[in-house]
Amino acid sequence: MKITTIILAAGKGTRMRSELPKVLHPIANRPLLQHVYDMSHQLPDNAITIIYGHGAELVLSTLKNLDASWVEQRQQLGTGHAVQQASGQIGDTDTVLILYGDVPLLKLSTVQTLLANVNAQTLALLTVTLDNPYGYGRIVRDASGAVTKIVEEKDATPEEKLIQEGNTGILAVQGDKLKQWLNRLGNNNAQGEYYLTDVIEMAVADGIKVVTSQPETVDEVLGVNNRLQLSHLERVYQQEQAATLMEQGVTLLDPARFDLRGTIASLGTDIVIDINVILEGTTSIGNNVKIGANCHLINATIADNVEIFSHTVIENAVVGQGSRIGPFARLRPETEIADNVHIGNFVEIKKSTVATGSKINHLSYIGDASVGAKVNIGAGTITCNYDGVNKFRTVIEDGAFIGSDSQLVAPVTIGKNATIGAGSTITKDTPENQLTLSRIKQFTISGWQRPVKQEK
Ligand code: UD1
Ligand code: CA
Repeated sequence: MKITTIILAAGKGTRMRSELPKVLHPIANRPLLQHVYDMSHQLPDNAITIIYGHGAELVLSTLKNLDASWVEQRQQLGTGHAVQQASGQIGDTDTVLILYGDVPLLKLSTVQTLLANVNAQTLALLTVTLDNPYGYGRIVRDASGAVTKIVEEKDATPEEKLIQEGNTGILAVQGDKLKQWLNRLGNNNAQGEYYLTDVIEMAVADGIKVVTSQPETVDEVLGVNNRLQLSHLERVYQQEQAATLMEQGVTLLDPARFDLRGTIASLGTDIVIDINVILEGTTSIGNNVKIGANCHLINATIADNVEIFSHTVIENAVVGQGSRIGPFARLRPETEIADNVHIGNFVEIKKSTVATGSKINHLSYIGDASVGAKVNIGAGTITCNYDGVNKFRTVIEDGAFIGSDSQLVAPVTIGKNATIGAGSTITKDTPENQLTLSRIKQFTISGWQRPVKQEK
């Protein structure tokens, strides 16, 4: 079965009150339209066409990498008019699947059920029973229960408005039939729009049976029209992801306070994640990893037995086995922490490697540095890597001990097992195994008195 999926994404989204086109608003950092695309992209033998219009340039430039045909609907004259724009993409024997770009949580399994209901004699329609169907097109059935038409809220009679079965807008039907019906659509209705929903009545008149199915949950077919609905679907999505992670053996201390904005590339066993953790981009986490409260990991790779304490930010960085990071640490891009390293509070590390067993426990900035194994970096150490124009590297060889409050002015190399006295400003390479310090000698002025406030 060859599928042509048409995603309607031209609408304005006025109630978002935003400069950003509605379909680009994100759920879990991914545009709404991308969610719909990613789901439908999993269908085999499927060509995707996206009907775009409002915010055309930005929608195109943001999502230009999607494997889809883009068809512009310059004026938004209704859902039927939108699908008409894609007529050229529809082959006679294709199964056409209509999706909405602002309905992000629709599940593949729901679409597969819908598609299983399509053949040359049927039209498959996804409907949903709602406590409050206000605003939805209503599914009108005859005495035998067969669908006869869809009537829009604004065109419905008081009796029809009592119908609780709503139209999700999602349907599937054979291409040649759809094209014939699209040609016959009119706009003689309350909104003066070309309604796609009018094809239902035409199908019935042509002896095509309308077969309905429903999604597992209402949330799957909810559209986003305002920011409240966006936040609702974000929470639904996050709770689903949290549930999936827990099924895979992760402990989430509170699944309602966890956000995954991206994908998990690999996941070990017995991971414990405290509250308010955000995992963004592509994350890999090994076995027995603990992540404390309020940590933000972006494209982080964390090996086995690592403990990340609260309020730590890790971005495009790798942490080796058994290391302990934080609390309040920041690992910036291109940082590689080897095994059994300790990075403590208020330590920032950028574009640096730190080899096995080293400790940087308090209040340091390490940038553009290679730190060897078993190095101890005292509190308040700073690599001065920037002269205002260029960046330079600092090399700290194995076993070195950097006394507290030292500045290492790059380019500079601290030799193997060298010791730097506290409070030094190191501007030249220092020899192995020796103590180097740059510090004025301490002296005391005897008999000195503190000034006192003068009487006026
Ligand atoms: C539509 C259905 C209604 C259904 C409801 C479900 C019709 C006539 N009505 O109503 O039965 O219950 O969806 O949410 O189909 N769009 C375009 N171009 C247009 C018009 C719309 O691309 O010219 C896109 C929108 O961006 C949106 C989708 O189509 O993604 C639905 O449009 P919307 O205006 O929200 O349809 P409703 O009037 O809510
Ligand atoms: Ca809508």
